[in-house]
Amino acid sequence: MERRFAARLGANECLYGPSPHAVQAMADAAADAWMYGDPTCHDLRHAIATHHGVTPDCIVVGEGIDGLQGYLVRLFVAQGDAVVTSDGAYPTFNYHAVGYGGTLHKVAYTDDHEDPDALLTKAAETGAKLIYFANPDNPMGTWHDAKTVQRMIDALPDGATLVLDEAYIDTAPPDIAPAIDTTNRQVIRMRTFSKAYGLAGLRVGYAIGHPDVIRGFEKVRNHFGMGRIQQAGALAALQDQTYLRAATDRNATDRAALGELLAAHGLKPLASATNFVAADTGQNADYAKRLVAALGAQGVFVRMPGVAPLNRCIRVSVPDEAARDVLERALPRALRTL
Ligand SMILES: Cc1ncc(COP(=O)(O)O)c(C=O)c1O
Repeated sequence: MERRFAARLGANECLYGPSPHAVQAMADAAADAWMYGDPTCHDLRHAIATHHGVTPDCIVVGEGIDGLQGYLVRLFVAQGDAVVTSDGAYPTFNYHAVGYGGTLHKVAYTDDHEDPDALLTKAAETGAKLIYFANPDNPMGTWHDAKTVQRMIDALPDGATLVLDEAYIDTAPPDIAPAIDTTNRQVIRMRTFSKAYGLAGLRVGYAIGHPDVIRGFEKVRNHFGMGRIQQAGALAALQDQTYLRAATDRNATDRAALGELLAAHGLKPLASATNFVAADTGQNADYAKRLVAALGAQGVFVRMPGVAPLNRCIRVSVPDEAARDVLERALPRALRTL
């Protein structure tokens, strides 16, 4: 059984939850759940396309970014093909890449940021089919501006496709996403309803790309993978941009408060464009690990990056008021036990 924590701050979920309209739409759809969902996700796909000013054939909806990455890797990576990512970056891409027989090449973070130049150099060196790059990044919460990302896009080696994971784009400053260009076959962008929209448990994400690339997903995707409740909830959430803006404003305020709380206890919060904060413990990975465990013992679920030098940090989701109160009590107690 899933363990209940007093404060669940380890999975980068949005504690405010989804728009009430999304909740209502899911409740309304529940009685019809005896029917399969629309295999083409017509309404949701068209609404997403309109939202981004692209045509619907540039959009594929899937079981979260995690699910879509599986399809993408299956499409692009054959046995022994090279793929490139950053050492310590969000790992799901790696699982899929290895699962489909790809050879993973990793480059180091630079100053706690994913390093676009290093990724490009490694991709050119290895003849990589895919380059995974998250902007903003998980687990550090750091980001690059749109110009840097565009430069990266313009410099992609022939034969390489950039997987631009924008899971946290809604909580980021507005100037970090380059314009969406669906004429470029070498870029596939991924977005999700799991973060700012507060629907992680629903499992809905989408990819934006050139129609020919998007058409490829039709060969491999699970055609009835998106149930009626999923499609209805995501559509209503997308249509409530007022709620999304309120949630992202609230996230910015609560993120700043979280940073202050962590700093008040001697940790160094990194600037974040996401719904979590990575905080430098000023110590080593062993200390960070013990702090994660000590917080767990106090009923607070947090996590930490997996590899050096990132693993000197702990990673804490932005709490709502109730969770912040729990963290405020737990953190000094946890630190005293170390
Ligand atoms: C960078 C990044 N991409 C993708 C995901 C997963 O997204 P989804 O819930 O849409 O599968 C996460 C979740 O933490 C993430 O941090």
